[in-house]
Amino acid sequence: MNSKYDLGALVKPLCLWYEKNKRSMPWREDATPYHVWLSEIMLQQTRIETAKAYYERFIRELPDVEALAQVPEDGLMKLWEGLGYYNRARNLQKAAKILVERYDGRLPADYGLLLDLPGIGSYTAGAIASIAYGIPAPAVDGNVLRVTMRYLGSDDDISKARVRKEMERCIMDIIPADKPGEFNQALMELGEVVCIPNGMPLCDTCPAAPECAARAAGRQMELPVKPEKKARRTEKRTILIFEQNGQIAIGRRPDTGLLAGLWEFPSLDGYLTLPQVKSLMEEKGTVVEEAERLRNGRHIFSHVEWYMRGYQIHVRTQELPQDILPDPVWAAKEDLKDIYAIPVAFHSFLHQL
Ligand code: ADE
Repeated sequence: MNSKYDLGALVKPLCLWYEKNKRSMPWREDATPYHVWLSEIMLQQTRIETAKAYYERFIRELPDVEALAQVPEDGLMKLWEGLGYYNRARNLQKAAKILVERYDGRLPADYGLLLDLPGIGSYTAGAIASIAYGIPAPAVDGNVLRVTMRYLGSDDDISKARVRKEMERCIMDIIPADKPGEFNQALMELGEVVCIPNGMPLCDTCPAAPECAARAAGRQMELPVKPEKKARRTEKRTILIFEQNGQIAIGRRPDTGLLAGLWEFPSLDGYLTLPQVKSLMEEKGTVVEEAERLRNGRHIFSHVEWYMRGYQIHVRTQELPQDILPDPVWAAKEDLKDIYAIPVAFHSFLHQL
């Protein structure tokens, strides 16, 4: 044992529990490296139930690394629409291109080589190596840190890279060589269904309860220790939905920053009233035939919250003010749903059209 943390006594009860309780998930049916990779990236940003439908559709459309490497960016964004963190999808494709060039379209069976790929950090590399290739490697995510820190009764701050690294070393000490993938998934799954993040963990059903330090000390709700999240900033925006001849104007967001490269309706900072919107358009030389207020929308990102007021504005020309939407693309309403990746933040408006 080289590690500060000792989880030796957890292995057996955890593995027995997992054998009996493991849930069925589509990527477990056929755990190829590609399937494991994709599912793990999706699971970093959404719940298992949501990920299932996205996963099934994704592998139907892009069944292998070659297909992922070749898909046009808009198609890729459409498959990712609603999951958020769109750069993760772009990194998937970047990595797929490298795999096609260097590895004959396969993921390398090597933890270090996996780590070198874009978008693959220690958690994902460990998950692919252990689950798809049976290589003993740690896959430490937030679930694993919650389970283990409670079990050990440790006050170490799990947001620190040092603590995660130490936990990775510790898991390497104890990971069963004959089923590393099962062990890693057992830890994650215990964190998802028993040693849950919000609210009291379900210790009565936990295989590790007799040895759990947090439980013995009644400290389940205090652990793990992590710093308070910063409060989100809020932004008010006015969303302008221009309609001309049954088509709607959209524009591409900049290549960097929030929702980079996705499509959106033009918008203005702050809240404007209907008369303000109309007179602004007139000032800018755009004739408004008719304009009406839509229902408000709200969207929560990890660090910012948007409060949105929307107007549908019927105009006569396809040219719009440069500073509002320089290169409008006029899209049929069905195409907004089927072709263009419009972030979920705008969906409440999309549904009102
Ligand atoms: N959470 C993320 N990846 C998982 C996996 N492979 N099994 C269970 N839970 C998970």
